[in-house]
Amino acid sequence: MEIVVFGAGSIGSLLGALLARVPDHDVTLVGRGPHVSAIRRRGLRVEGIESFTVEPQATTDGTDLAADLVLVTVKAYDTEAAARELRTGEFDAVCSLQNGMGNEETLAGYLDCPVLGGTTSYGAVRTDSGEVVWNGAGEIAVGPWAPRGDDETAATVGAAMTAGGLEVDVVDGAGIRRRLWEKLAVNAAINPTTALARVENGALGDEPGTDLVEPIAREVGATARAEGVTLSDEALVDAVGEVVTATAENESSMYADVQAARRTEIDVINGYVVERAREHGIDVPTNRTLWTLLRAWEAERGLRAIDA
Ligand code: PAF
Repeated sequence: MEIVVFGAGSIGSLLGALLARVPDHDVTLVGRGPHVSAIRRRGLRVEGIESFTVEPQATTDGTDLAADLVLVTVKAYDTEAAARELRTGEFDAVCSLQNGMGNEETLAGYLDCPVLGGTTSYGAVRTDSGEVVWNGAGEIAVGPWAPRGDDETAATVGAAMTAGGLEVDVVDGAGIRRRLWEKLAVNAAINPTTALARVENGALGDEPGTDLVEPIAREVGATARAEGVTLSDEALVDAVGEVVTATAENESSMYADVQAARRTEIDVINGYVVERAREHGIDVPTNRTLWTLLRAWEAERGLRAIDA
């Protein structure tokens, strides 16, 4: 299968490398200059849970590409720009494997091919150009977003990922919407807390970290149910705990963003919870506080418009 991985950050590089090990897959990574140059010169090196080097194709130009499948792994605030580039190409399916909510709607708004929703709890950190550390065993869920009933495309994409040794759960249209809310709870609980406390994910597995994780997950649960998604608070608290354990040694993507003085995905994670909860008259004070703190940090560094 011809696969484009659009976004060669931590998770895109790891997934691209795992898929590039499959002899039948022809993988192209779309990323930034230095990383792309390093991959072209000496391949893509993975260290950690498994260590290996692969030689996928790599490019900085995401226009006019053609493939059976595109995995979108850019930051959520770059989804629209990615969709604009992708619409110049020809693809059989596009699957978002991003953090936060709203990515699938954006992709479906620009592209004619089937769009799949996806979640991943793999832990990875890009350490240098041409290198990524794989430090969290995880799972991927994929399911049809638009059209909602396109289970066949989801099964095909799931099989292509499974061939790369990835743990994949193929779910239906209702299932992927539930999984996206579950992943939202995971990111809402882990990402801002680790970024602000400057700790690895594992620090949230014990007191006092758990004191904060549980109310965040419960607030996401109340909002999800108001949106018509059946998820219990207990299931969400357990989901967060499982990812904390599986990615204990990982620095979350938001912690990495803050260390690199980059804009974060706080708006489409805790900010999304606050906005949706407000529509339903639900108070989500813990999520609101975290959203405000990260927005204040971004505004002070000029990473966002003051009133955004
Ligand atoms: O954003 C992240 O860092 C990841 O989604 C996860 C699964 C929380 C692991 O760190």
